[in-house]
Amino acid sequence: MPARMPIKQRVETKRGLLLLGLLWLLEALVLSAGVGHSARFAVASQQQAGPDAAMPEPIEPLPLTDTENPAKTALGERLFGDVRLSRDQSMSCLTCHQFDRGGADGLPVAKRPDGTVLSRNTPTIFNVGFNYFFNWDGSADTLETHAERLMLNPNVMDANWPELLERLRADSSYSAAFKAAYADGLNKANVLDAMAAYERSLNTPNSRFDQYLRRQEALTEAERRGYQLFKSYGCVACHQGINIGGNIFQRFGIFPYLSASTEADEASGLADPGRFQVTRIERDRYVFRVPSLRNVALTAPYFHDGKAATLEAAVDTMARVQLGKTLTPEEIGSIVSFLHTLTGEYRGRPLAASAPEPR
Ligand code: HEC
Ligand code: HEC
Repeated sequence: MPARMPIKQRVETKRGLLLLGLLWLLEALVLSAGVGHSARFAVASQQQAGPDAAMPEPIEPLPLTDTENPAKTALGERLFGDVRLSRDQSMSCLTCHQFDRGGADGLPVAKRPDGTVLSRNTPTIFNVGFNYFFNWDGSADTLETHAERLMLNPNVMDANWPELLERLRADSSYSAAFKAAYADGLNKANVLDAMAAYERSLNTPNSRFDQYLRRQEALTEAERRGYQLFKSYGCVACHQGINIGGNIFQRFGIFPYLSASTEADEASGLADPGRFQVTRIERDRYVFRVPSLRNVALTAPYFHDGKAATLEAAVDTMARVQLGKTLTPEEIGSIVSFLHTLTGEYRGRPLAASAPEPR
């Protein structure tokens, strides 16, 4: 599990993943330069249940079991749905990370209950423990740091530790549960630890695509063709690894392309500078973390600014701005049908727009 690895190993893994990404990009370029068509043809007529055993796959299935400590995740779950975490007690984490909306909120950009809009789209909370950096600009690299910043952020929870700990201590059931889960009971570090443990348990294994990787399920011809295009066109150079994203940064708009609205935003200084905001290095302007594509069929609208209303629109934009290609509607349809196979299960039930609220 990435979240538990010692720092040094994580850094090396990040480098390894980057290398893997570059290799795939190279391979994709070679494929699209020539053999791409015959390779796609070959797959369309392939009838096997799983992928070709001789070819290593650039995507791994999610583990089927959760290894987090149940006492800690239960506490984290309670905190996640508790409005006392926000200073004015108007919202909890569930306000924006909704389980019946793929762990996001269905809005172009996040909105607080008082109507204030935030500047970015809410990413899914599912499988978040498999990301290496958090937020669209990767401004945090552990879930604990992320949670603390978010709680203190005046635009989000606007909490402060003395007040929050006092509130939680006033509830004897919290004190007792913290004492049972942690030797040193209720304190700031343990609140953050419980929240992060819960977040790391929010995994959605067993998608149809993961079953395909495990050779337990066949994909339809359109889905397989979509996956083949995803690989041969080079989407997989950026969206790869266990979370099909979440581990590298890339410029949004590698090919010289800015939509009219982005140009207008740029002229008025409103364009989101992405990772530049974190590093202040000019080459990081418009660089964003590559998002995970797991459960992506459930998390419209898309992109950091929520400007793509449908998956078809997102795929079309990706091909044009990241790969310099215009896809046919049929190719877009195949890729979208592949993306639909990435929807997994939460607590043994397929994730859907009508999934039950967490227990
Ligand atoms: C008002 C809506 C809102 C609320 C409430 C909210 N979030 Fe979020 N969350 C967001 C937005 C928007 C982002 C992306 C921020 C960015 O990229 O700058 C985000 C990002 C995240 C991420 C990073 C996900 C990733 O893959 O990068 C995590 C983890 C997260 N939130 C957890 C929480 C937790 C825990 C709480 C409760 C303490 C919470 N959120 C409350 C809107 C919200
Ligand atoms: C060079 C890297 C790169 C390539 C190649 C790439 N993407 Fe992306 N993708 C990104 C980045 C970065 C984002 C986030 C953009 C943003 O909102 O700032 C993204 C976002 C997306 C999203 C929206 C996800 C969400 O939750 O909002 C989808 C869907 C997607 N990509 C699919 C694809 C497909 C399909 C392809 C191939 C046609 C592809 N991508 C190729 C880097 C890449």
